[in-house]
Amino acid sequence: MTSLAILGVGKVGGETAFLSAALGLVDELVVYDVYEPLLQAQVLDLQHTGIDVAISTEPAAMRDADIFVFAAGTPRTPDIKTRADLLEANIPVAKRCSELLQEFGGVVITVTNPMDANNYGLWKMMGVDRRQCIGFGGQLDSARFARYLDEVGKPGPAWVLGEHGEHQVPLFSKTGHSVDIDEREAILSRMRGASMEVIRGKGGTVFGPAYHITMLVRAVIEDRREVLPCSCVLDGEYGLSGCSIGVPARIGREGILGIEEWELDPWESAKMAEAGAFVGDLCRRFDD
Ligand SMILES: NC(=O)c1ccc[n+]([C@@H]2O[C@H](COP(=O)([O-])OP(=O)(O)OC[C@H]3O[C@@H](n4cnc5c(N)ncnc54)[C@H](O)[C@@H]3O)[C@@H](O)[C@H]2O)c1
Repeated sequence: MTSLAILGVGKVGGETAFLSAALGLVDELVVYDVYEPLLQAQVLDLQHTGIDVAISTEPAAMRDADIFVFAAGTPRTPDIKTRADLLEANIPVAKRCSELLQEFGGVVITVTNPMDANNYGLWKMMGVDRRQCIGFGGQLDSARFARYLDEVGKPGPAWVLGEHGEHQVPLFSKTGHSVDIDEREAILSRMRGASMEVIRGKGGTVFGPAYHITMLVRAVIEDRREVLPCSCVLDGEYGLSGCSIGVPARIGREGILGIEEWELDPWESAKMAEAGAFVGDLCRRFDD
């Protein structure tokens, strides 16, 4: 019996619930949203699929789930330029979430932006092992990076570390191509604008995040032990601590089984340090 809890069943949380059920990954969904009409509609819509999955809307049942996805809170609109701008709006939601999850023994996947800071905040407020808290975003950024590499005729392994935001760090050194600084910065600039292109057109990103969150859920449930770019609370890795940031992490049933420390080139190392400083400042809001 595998139970997946999702707090916030808006665009991303709702689609993740559907995909996880449709792929047969879970036996039970525990879903909750503060907006009651949406919650009821999402439950009905899921039930109308006929998929054999138990559905609960009892928030107190979330702490007994195997995996918990935090997807509640304010998303970006075209007026909200960066994910970091969502911090003040979503801190109270993260606090509420941590209260629901007291003594949670499962794996937390943080989606709500600014995702890295919120992942750190949940870890801190819940007082759990850092291996239980996985921040989602790096897989999506990496998929976008792969597309841009294809477009410039330099396909190859695409990994994005750093912040899920303006300070993301695409690893050009791992692509198998020589990419000069100007071209790196041009691709990075496109990557920074990738989700806003979708938000402007359809009001929010849905398929991309929901698909990759579901693959992360699968990696945990099936104990796949694969290395994925995920935000992890750091304790000296990459010279950083006091923050959660995207790094290559081995993911399995217990959450983060290990963090790999890859050699970065000087451009990447500098970007990683900038990302750590930027996210670290946001994380201090949770140290009060
Ligand atoms: N990490 C990523 O890659 C990634 C990708 C897409 C979106 N996001 C982020 O995920 C979050 C959700 O995005 P979305 O597009 O699904 O937004 P959405 O507005 O469609 O859904 C958010 C839902 O959260 C609910 N909510 C708000 N406060 C709540 C609370 N205290 N308890 C329960 N539910 C609550 C709202 O009623 C709403 O239904 C945003 O912060 C967005 O920026 C992250």
